[in-house]
Amino acid sequence: MFFRKSQSEAAAAQGAAARAGSAITVAMTVNGKAVSADVDPRTLLVHYVRDGLRLTGTHVGCDTSQCGACVVHLDGRAIKSCTVLAASCDGAKVTTIEGLAQDGKLHPMQEAFREHHGLQCGFCTPGMIMAAVDIVNRKGGTVDEATIRHELEGNICRCTGYHNIVAAVRAGAAAMGGMRQAAE
Ligand code: FES
Ligand code: FES
Repeated sequence: MFFRKSQSEAAAAQGAAARAGSAITVAMTVNGKAVSADVDPRTLLVHYVRDGLRLTGTHVGCDTSQCGACVVHLDGRAIKSCTVLAASCDGAKVTTIEGLAQDGKLHPMQEAFREHHGLQCGFCTPGMIMAAVDIVNRKGGTVDEATIRHELEGNICRCTGYHNIVAAVRAGAAAMGGMRQAAE
Protein backbone atom coordinates (compact mmCIF):
# COMPACT_ATOMS: atom_id res chain seq x y z
CA MET A 1 0.00 0.00 0.00
CA PHE A 2 1.25 3.46 -0.90
CA PHE A 3 1.43 6.19 1.71
CA ARG A 4 2.38 9.82 1.20
CA LYS A 5 3.88 10.05 4.68
CA SER A 6 5.58 7.08 6.21
CA GLN A 7 3.28 4.98 8.33
CA SER A 8 5.44 5.70 11.36
CA GLU A 9 5.16 9.47 10.79
CA ALA A 10 1.43 9.27 10.36
CA ALA A 11 1.07 6.99 13.37
CA ALA A 12 3.17 9.35 15.50
CA ALA A 13 1.07 12.36 14.45
CA GLN A 14 -2.08 10.37 15.01
CA GLY A 15 -1.01 9.21 18.44
CA ALA A 16 -0.03 12.69 19.55
CA ALA A 17 -3.31 14.16 18.35
CA ALA A 18 -5.35 11.37 19.86
CA ARG A 19 -3.62 11.81 23.23
CA ALA A 20 -4.33 15.51 23.05
CA GLY A 21 -7.90 14.80 21.95
CA SER A 22 -7.41 17.16 19.07
CA ALA A 23 -7.97 17.28 15.36
CA ILE A 24 -5.23 17.28 12.76
CA THR A 25 -5.14 19.81 9.95
CA VAL A 26 -4.70 18.18 6.58
CA ALA A 27 -4.26 19.94 3.28
CA MET A 28 -4.27 18.23 -0.08
CA THR A 29 -5.27 18.77 -3.68
CA VAL A 30 -8.39 16.89 -4.69
CA ASN A 31 -9.38 16.84 -8.35
CA GLY A 32 -7.15 19.84 -8.94
CA LYS A 33 -8.59 21.92 -6.12
CA ALA A 34 -6.73 22.76 -2.92
CA VAL A 35 -8.66 21.67 0.17
CA SER A 36 -7.87 21.83 3.85
CA ALA A 37 -9.71 20.67 6.95
CA ASP A 38 -9.31 19.73 10.58
CA VAL A 39 -10.03 16.03 10.89
CA ASP A 40 -10.08 13.42 13.57
CA PRO A 41 -6.71 11.66 13.29
CA ARG A 42 -8.54 8.37 12.77
CA THR A 43 -10.40 9.63 9.71
CA LEU A 44 -9.97 7.42 6.69
CA LEU A 45 -9.40 9.05 3.32
CA VAL A 46 -12.62 7.57 1.94
CA HIS A 47 -14.67 9.17 4.72
CA TYR A 48 -12.91 12.50 4.31
CA VAL A 49 -13.62 12.45 0.58
CA ARG A 50 -17.24 11.35 0.93
CA ASP A 51 -18.35 13.10 4.10
CA GLY A 52 -15.97 16.05 4.22
CA LEU A 53 -15.84 16.94 0.55
CA ARG A 54 -19.19 15.42 -0.50
CA LEU A 55 -17.54 13.54 -3.34
CA THR A 56 -19.78 10.53 -3.00
CA GLY A 57 -18.78 8.81 -6.22
CA THR A 58 -16.16 6.96 -4.19
CA HIS A 59 -18.03 4.10 -2.53
CA VAL A 60 -17.58 2.02 0.60
CA GLY A 61 -18.34 -1.62 -0.05
CA CYS A 62 -16.48 -3.47 2.66
CA ASP A 63 -14.30 -1.06 4.68
CA THR A 64 -11.75 -3.87 4.93
CA SER A 65 -9.68 -3.43 1.77
CA GLN A 66 -11.29 -6.25 -0.17
CA CYS A 67 -13.84 -4.91 -2.67
CA GLY A 68 -12.12 -1.98 -4.41
CA ALA A 69 -15.23 0.22 -4.45
CA CYS A 70 -13.19 2.95 -2.74
CA VAL A 71 -10.28 3.15 -5.19
CA VAL A 72 -8.96 6.65 -5.84
CA HIS A 73 -5.63 7.88 -7.16
CA LEU A 74 -3.13 9.16 -4.64
CA ASP A 75 -0.25 10.98 -6.31
CA GLY A 76 -1.11 9.19 -9.52
CA ARG A 77 -1.38 5.66 -8.16
CA ALA A 78 -4.51 3.66 -7.42
CA ILE A 79 -5.08 3.00 -3.72
CA LYS A 80 -7.95 1.72 -1.62
CA SER A 81 -9.01 4.81 0.26
CA CYS A 82 -10.60 2.78 3.06
CA THR A 83 -7.14 1.73 4.17
CA VAL A 84 -5.44 5.12 4.11
CA LEU A 85 -5.65 7.76 6.81
CA ALA A 86 -6.53 11.24 5.59
CA ALA A 87 -3.75 12.51 7.84
CA SER A 88 -1.20 10.50 5.89
CA CYS A 89 -2.24 12.30 2.68
CA ASP A 90 -1.17 15.77 3.80
CA GLY A 91 0.36 17.49 0.77
CA ALA A 92 -0.79 14.78 -1.64
CA LYS A 93 -2.73 14.96 -4.88
CA VAL A 94 -5.91 12.90 -4.89
CA THR A 95 -8.11 12.16 -7.87
CA THR A 96 -11.56 10.69 -7.44
CA ILE A 97 -14.00 9.50 -10.08
CA GLU A 98 -15.44 13.02 -10.16
CA GLY A 99 -12.07 14.31 -11.35
CA LEU A 100 -11.75 12.16 -14.47
CA ALA A 101 -14.13 13.92 -16.84
CA GLN A 102 -12.70 17.09 -18.32
CA ASP A 103 -14.67 20.04 -19.70
CA GLY A 104 -17.88 18.05 -19.57
CA LYS A 105 -16.39 15.19 -21.59
CA LEU A 106 -16.15 11.72 -20.12
CA HIS A 107 -12.70 10.20 -19.70
CA PRO A 108 -12.07 7.52 -22.39
CA MET A 109 -12.29 4.80 -19.74
CA GLN A 110 -15.67 6.12 -18.57
CA GLU A 111 -16.82 6.28 -22.16
CA ALA A 112 -15.68 2.69 -22.73
CA PHE A 113 -17.66 1.46 -19.69
CA ARG A 114 -20.72 3.23 -21.03
CA GLU A 115 -20.23 1.91 -24.55
CA HIS A 116 -19.52 -1.69 -23.52
CA HIS A 117 -22.13 -1.93 -20.77
CA GLY A 118 -19.41 -2.39 -18.16
CA LEU A 119 -21.85 -1.76 -15.32
CA GLN A 120 -25.12 -3.06 -14.00
CA CYS A 121 -26.02 -1.52 -10.64
CA GLY A 122 -22.96 0.70 -10.88
CA PHE A 123 -21.81 0.33 -7.30
CA CYS A 124 -18.39 -1.06 -8.17
CA THR A 125 -17.99 1.13 -11.25
CA PRO A 126 -16.10 4.15 -9.85
CA GLY A 127 -13.52 1.89 -8.22
CA MET A 128 -13.29 -0.27 -11.34
CA ILE A 129 -12.69 2.75 -13.55
CA MET A 130 -10.10 4.30 -11.24
CA ALA A 131 -8.29 0.95 -11.05
CA ALA A 132 -8.55 0.53 -14.83
CA VAL A 133 -7.01 3.93 -15.54
CA ASP A 134 -4.14 3.04 -13.22
CA ILE A 135 -3.66 -0.31 -15.00
CA VAL A 136 -3.38 1.45 -18.35
CA ASN A 137 -1.04 4.07 -16.92
CA ARG A 138 1.25 1.29 -15.76
CA LYS A 139 0.77 -1.38 -18.43
CA GLY A 140 -0.01 0.65 -21.53
CA GLY A 141 -2.82 0.79 -24.05
CA THR A 142 -2.28 -2.72 -25.39
CA VAL A 143 -2.68 -4.46 -22.03
CA ASP A 144 -4.07 -7.96 -22.58
CA GLU A 145 -7.13 -9.63 -21.11
CA ALA A 146 -5.22 -11.95 -18.77
CA THR A 147 -3.34 -9.00 -17.29
CA ILE A 148 -6.52 -6.99 -16.86
CA ARG A 149 -8.22 -9.86 -15.05
CA HIS A 150 -5.20 -10.35 -12.80
CA GLU A 151 -4.89 -6.63 -12.06
CA LEU A 152 -8.60 -6.35 -11.21
CA GLU A 153 -8.46 -9.11 -8.61
CA GLY A 154 -8.84 -6.51 -5.88
CA ASN A 155 -12.07 -5.15 -7.35
CA ILE A 156 -15.28 -7.07 -6.77
CA CYS A 157 -18.45 -6.70 -8.83
CA ARG A 158 -21.39 -8.07 -6.93
CA CYS A 159 -23.41 -8.10 -10.14
CA THR A 160 -20.67 -10.35 -11.56
CA GLY A 161 -20.46 -8.35 -14.76
CA TYR A 162 -16.81 -9.15 -15.27
CA HIS A 163 -17.00 -10.07 -18.94
CA ASN A 164 -18.23 -6.64 -19.97
CA ILE A 165 -15.98 -4.91 -17.47
CA VAL A 166 -12.90 -6.53 -19.00
CA ALA A 167 -14.14 -5.67 -22.50
CA ALA A 168 -14.64 -2.08 -21.39
CA VAL A 169 -11.17 -1.87 -19.88
CA ARG A 170 -9.61 -3.21 -23.08
CA ALA A 171 -11.49 -0.64 -25.15
CA GLY A 172 -10.69 2.13 -22.69
CA ALA A 173 -7.03 1.12 -22.71
CA ALA A 174 -6.92 1.28 -26.50
CA ALA A 175 -8.56 4.71 -26.44
CA MET A 176 -6.15 5.98 -23.80
CA GLY A 177 -3.22 4.62 -25.79
CA GLY A 178 -4.53 6.33 -28.90
CA MET A 179 -4.82 9.61 -27.04
CA ARG A 180 -1.20 9.34 -25.94
CA GLN A 181 -0.01 8.60 -29.47
CA ALA A 182 -1.97 11.57 -30.80
CA ALA A 183 -0.33 13.81 -28.19
CA GLU A 184 3.18 12.59 -29.08
FE1 FES B 1 -12.32 -0.12 0.40
FE2 FES B 1 -13.96 -2.17 0.00
S1 FES B 1 -14.44 -0.19 0.77
S2 FES B 1 -11.83 -2.03 -0.46
FE1 FES C 1 -23.19 -3.90 -9.61
FE2 FES C 1 -20.59 -4.14 -10.19
S1 FES C 1 -22.19 -3.37 -11.46
S2 FES C 1 -21.51 -4.31 -8.27
